[in-house]
Amino acid sequence: MEQNVLLQLTHISKRYKTELALKDIGMTLHKGEILGFLGPSGAGKTTTIKIITGQLKPTSGEAKILGTDSSNLDASIYEKIGVVSDNSGIYERMSVWQNLSIFAKIWRVKQSRIEEVLKQVGLYEHRKKPAAKLSKGQGQRLVLARAVLHKPKILFLDEPTGGLDPSTAVSIHRMLTDLKKEGMAIFLTTHNMEEATKLCDHVALLYQGKIVEFGTPKELCLKYNRKKEYRLLLHDGREETFGQTPENVQKIAEWMQQDKIESIHSCEPTLEHVFLQVTGASLNV
Ligand SMILES: Nc1ncnc2c1ncn2[C@@H]1O[C@H](COP(=O)(O)OP(=O)(O)OP(=O)(O)O)[C@@H](O)[C@H]1O
Ligand SMILES: [Mg+2]
Repeated sequence: MEQNVLLQLTHISKRYKTELALKDIGMTLHKGEILGFLGPSGAGKTTTIKIITGQLKPTSGEAKILGTDSSNLDASIYEKIGVVSDNSGIYERMSVWQNLSIFAKIWRVKQSRIEEVLKQVGLYEHRKKPAAKLSKGQGQRLVLARAVLHKPKILFLDEPTGGLDPSTAVSIHRMLTDLKKEGMAIFLTTHNMEEATKLCDHVALLYQGKIVEFGTPKELCLKYNRKKEYRLLLHDGREETFGQTPENVQKIAEWMQQDKIESIHSCEPTLEHVFLQVTGASLNV
């Protein structure tokens, strides 16, 4: 594999008894890249992560992670990757600090790193609290702290901000951006298109087990910007939306000259619109 390629899937398919959950999936993850797998419930996101991390065998195709075939991984892979999924594996009766301390010993990570990570996720003040007493968002941040304690090369996040309040989500986004700057590659699944737009270098739109589109969020939004529109706010408080026709452009120009316009925005579609156009289905089902 090329040096900066940390993860490569080629022609991955997965059949669960009768259901074909993944169909010919291919993708590549590079160092320092955030890749988003975007798709509605049941699209195959968790299945993909499980195959990559060796928890499930693909029916066909090949997944290579850090140069090793996912089907042949041993426990040492966990020194190089971090995985955050629903089953948190946090020890409820132990304190926040103790929870990280156990893993710091296993991974031979310095105690000073625990402090650093706790500050990064905003849990340092809560370090003595038993994990059971944390709020949901705090609990999720603890799981994240544990997953990055040993500075993994790849971080897998299955719905990192699902069910979190917006400000906690923002602090997690900030942390992910910082980790990316340090060179960590992040593979995340989400059905939150705003999150994907903000964070991801590339997104794969997954629908019924297939990657139906791939690109940067900007590329995809522009590609599907078929109906070019402008939204105007006028000084008198009126809001108007205009399609891009010669007459409308003429009218907007006149209003500009007459200083009638407070603000003007072009309406590029969001990833949600893109998804809807590609699949005919909504992301949030
Ligand atoms: N162990 C299993 N046995 C049989 N079918 C399964 C199993 N795990 C998942 N599936 C099926 O495979 C499909 C993909 O499931 P998966 O969990 O990968 O979806 P997902 O995209 O992660 O969805 P969500 O957003 O709800 O977490 C679903 O239709 C699901 O019912
Ligand atoms: Mg899932």
